[in-house]
Amino acid sequence: MIAADYVPDDLVTPNVRRGGSGIQMRKDAAAALEELFKAAKDEENYTLLAISGYRSYQTQASIFNRKVKNVGRAKAMQLVALPGASEHQLGLAMDVGCKRSTGLTGSFGKTPEGKWLAENCYRFGFILRYKAEWTETTGYAYEPWHIRYVGTEHAARIKELDIPFEDYIA
Ligand code: DAL
Ligand code: ZN
Repeated sequence: MIAADYVPDDLVTPNVRRGGSGIQMRKDAAAALEELFKAAKDEENYTLLAISGYRSYQTQASIFNRKVKNVGRAKAMQLVALPGASEHQLGLAMDVGCKRSTGLTGSFGKTPEGKWLAENCYRFGFILRYKAEWTETTGYAYEPWHIRYVGTEHAARIKELDIPFEDYIA
């Protein structure tokens, strides 16, 4: 668990197109995100949108509690991390969208931008964290929009192995 008062000390706002309000990340992750978004634009003319980055423990708690109200606790647990258990609190995760898919739904994975993200984010040190075939291991439903920064070496290895981060660190 992440302490409730943990806040990364090097949070910055990446200079990227945004589709949401809180898009801070830790410094290295933010720089890598800028490169990732630029490559999407330069190579394919895709405009990626940063929708949700760093979230405080309290923000995560609000999101989780709202989800519990809407869909019940069991379902909420598969969609939103408990406060203290989210990579968003680490400042290493970003939820990504594109113009025709800003709502963080499975349909993002079917867009050209979502497919490109899944194939290419490793080049910039990110992994697609919650693939559809990994739900039993990760505990979370498919999230084609959620990428986590691990650095280029680990990202390349994880992409090659095609295994969940949980198995990789174990
Ligand atoms: N939606 C992911 C699991 C999170 O809340 O961190
Ligand atoms: Zn996320």
